[in-house]
Amino acid sequence: MVASGIVAIFLTTRASAQTTLKDAYKVYFLIGAALNQSQFSGENTCELPLIEAQFNMIRPENVLKWSSLHPGPNHYDFTLADQYVEFGQKHGMFVVGHTLIWHNQTPDWVFQGADGNPVDRDTLLARMRDHIFTVVGRYKGRIGGWDVVNEALADNGSLRQSPWRQIIGEDYLLKAYQYAHEADPQARLYYNDYLLENGPKRAGAIALIQKLQSQGVHIAAIGLQGHYRLDSPSTKEIDDALTDFSRQGLKMTISELDVDVLPSATHSQAADINLNFKLQARWNPYTNGLPDSVQQALANRYAELFAMFLKHRDNIRSVGFWGVTDANSWLNTWPIKGRANYPLLFDRHCQPKSAFNAVIQTAPPQSRGK
Ligand code: GLA
Repeated sequence: MVASGIVAIFLTTRASAQTTLKDAYKVYFLIGAALNQSQFSGENTCELPLIEAQFNMIRPENVLKWSSLHPGPNHYDFTLADQYVEFGQKHGMFVVGHTLIWHNQTPDWVFQGADGNPVDRDTLLARMRDHIFTVVGRYKGRIGGWDVVNEALADNGSLRQSPWRQIIGEDYLLKAYQYAHEADPQARLYYNDYLLENGPKRAGAIALIQKLQSQGVHIAAIGLQGHYRLDSPSTKEIDDALTDFSRQGLKMTISELDVDVLPSATHSQAADINLNFKLQARWNPYTNGLPDSVQQALANRYAELFAMFLKHRDNIRSVGFWGVTDANSWLNTWPIKGRANYPLLFDRHCQPKSAFNAVIQTAPPQSRGK
């Protein structure tokens, strides 16, 4: 008895050490990570083996955003974007494009004429078309899915008053999806946003997508960014959102998952990258490492989240993390610069955390290691 018990423990440990995220969830959904240049260039030798082993889908953190790719009129720079796409292809990963149309990380010149005043609708539509045709066209057949529009909704579910909306009008979304579809008819087109678990914003997203669908746009999936905290949104809110979107016949992708473990400096749950608060010690409590109790709470949260994703697996296409290890997470610098955050499954030394084991163990045993 004792001997077989020991063998069983050994086998379990070996199995979980060998099982990777992508294999554990292979029959359910793709498992992705957002990458930066140090990762897809191979320069980050600590994270590279993890990326190769654990993930079968990638998103670029920044290199496909307008400001990186298209910094000036008639000036495109594809150096890093090409590297990113080649990395994904070389590893047989599903390569996502993020993002074509957003109000952030888009240079001012896009919206301005030579006199500095806002351009007219036709000029902005022509610029949008040129950008989408050039970028989507370049990666036709290689980038499998595009976040065509990112964060078009305000937190109350109305259409955000972005320069796109102000200059072109509400149909800027329709045009963006039409251009992207024309540029690569095979590419999957997504709508991506944060806080879609929140009732009014969720209702706004459903209305927006229904409208686009009635205009002939095929939205392959709605991207729920999944920038979560340990205790919010509640699993019920997430469950309700996933149920609601499924009822509309929508497929979903969890596109930017991470779990912030630090005290919140704001009551807002929004993942608005423009938020910025001053560093104070009370908001940065774990500079010497994460206490076991919080490590455990993070593992429990991840187990709960993946159980929820599995519950909705028929309608979830992929689950992607925003980053690979805690070392590179944007949550070390947002919404307060200089904090030590611990939101991902791998620690600063590229070692799996309890949260990694929790995610692996949440996958039904018969699928693990397949
Ligand atoms: C949003 C964007 C991402 C990224 C994150 C924060 O979620 O969609 O591209 O900028 O914010 O890094």
